[in-house]
Amino acid sequence: MSTPIVETGEIPYSVKIEAKSPMPSPSNRTRILVADDQADVREALRLLLKSEGFETETVASPAAVLAALDTREFDSILIDLNYARDTTSGQEGLDLLSNIRAKDGAVPIIVMTAWGSLELAVEAMRRGAKDFVQKQWENNRLLAILKTQIELAHAIRRSQRLEAENRLLRADGRPTLIAESPAMRPVIELIARVGPSDANVLITGDHGTGKDVVARTLHALSPRSGRPLVTVNAGGLPEGIFESELFGHVKGAFTDAKTDRVGRFELADSGTLFLDEIANVPMNLQAKLLRALETGELERVGSSTTRRVDVRILSATNADISTEVRAGKFREDLLFRLNTIEIHVPPLRERKEDIPLLALHFLRSSAQRYRKNLAGFEPVALQLMLDHPWPGNVRELDHSVERAVLLAEGEQVRASDLGLRVSRDTALRLDDMGLEDVERVLIQKALARFGGNVSHASKALGLSRSALYRRLQKYNL
Ligand SMILES: Nc1ncnc2c1ncn2[C@@H]1O[C@H](COP(=O)(O)OP(=O)(O)OP(=O)(O)O)[C@@H](O)[C@H]1O
Ligand SMILES: [Mg+2]
Repeated sequence: MSTPIVETGEIPYSVKIEAKSPMPSPSNRTRILVADDQADVREALRLLLKSEGFETETVASPAAVLAALDTREFDSILIDLNYARDTTSGQEGLDLLSNIRAKDGAVPIIVMTAWGSLELAVEAMRRGAKDFVQKQWENNRLLAILKTQIELAHAIRRSQRLEAENRLLRADGRPTLIAESPAMRPVIELIARVGPSDANVLITGDHGTGKDVVARTLHALSPRSGRPLVTVNAGGLPEGIFESELFGHVKGAFTDAKTDRVGRFELADSGTLFLDEIANVPMNLQAKLLRALETGELERVGSSTTRRVDVRILSATNADISTEVRAGKFREDLLFRLNTIEIHVPPLRERKEDIPLLALHFLRSSAQRYRKNLAGFEPVALQLMLDHPWPGNVRELDHSVERAVLLAEGEQVRASDLGLRVSRDTALRLDDMGLEDVERVLIQKALARFGGNVSHASKALGLSRSALYRRLQKYNL
């Protein structure tokens, strides 16, 4: 059995792992260009960014920004709007913004404006700046903005690459499994290791975590990939039907058996059989299933002819199957047959790092389906998704994004399009929350409701715009 080692880049084609984390835990490779004509501002920013592990280059003039862009790539650019020639109108900065955009349409630009010049900030955003900070900035807010923007830009770049790969993958029916978070690393490693083998694999995890995707990926990685992957869902089928579904029947085996029927086991011969919701297999069928797994032999219902099959068994459950075993509802010997290897897929809330990329992936496929021209998510929307607990896991994220794509009116999905309510968890914890936590949640809710529109949100909260801005800075929102 070949064992591709993920870390060395021998990555199976359908498993995508990125060397870089999508949450820019600022690595040395994350490079920021800072432009300001005041030496003390440049130095303060250089020290701040260095302390966060960013690689920083500082320049003093618009011309130097353009020259730097000709020689290197940057992950983000932070520019002042006013330079020596004209220190108040911001025109030099706005022109610089347009010039940078002409050279590089994707790099996130953040502008620094004088306190109180919101109109200038709005004009800068109109010309393609991603966000702004007012001087004197608050370090935490500046860093949060930078990280969000870099993260978004990275996610967009990755998803463009993914889309290209997906086109290839879709062509021959291979699944897409997005998994870059530390929590998914063991999952990916196991998939890479056991995918190509014949080992039976039990996939566990909550609803919507991606068990089907894992099963399809395992099959796609195996030498059986040219043969069928046959799925049987053990939930929801009456016992009698389930048996003939699995093993087939012969004409006359029971009243409704008008013709012979080939069961899923035989259909999967030389391929893979995926037994979904395995905990629901009725007790008396568990014995028959065990025998088929042990011997590779089975009889169709109503027949005594023994048939041999060669199948690899993948199974999945969201139940805690050892509890079922202890309760006498699931045979331990069958479990031992099924779980030669067990892969546990963690809930989405334990791998938040995957959310931006998954969300963009779903955004792109929904946008294509509904013919919408959408570039991505507004930062507030992304933050809302990162904060949501996702009880329905990846499927819930998929559905929320699909809904948002349908509702979105601009070029970006707004927080209000996502239809995410503050979780019941949060509501229940209200009693234990401090005043500041409550204020933070209320502000988040108001921003979400008004799609990040500060004027509307401040009105709804009964605050002035500047009071809300102060709180946004304070809470790092
Ligand atoms: N890591 C992932 N990358 C890309 N898409 C994913 C990933 N995980 C899940 N999905 C998508 O999310 C949806 C739900 O996943 P899936 O059906 O595999 O979940 P499940 O664990 O089998 O759920 P259930 O327990 O309800 O059967 C599917 O559309 C799937 O394609
Ligand atoms: Mg499933």
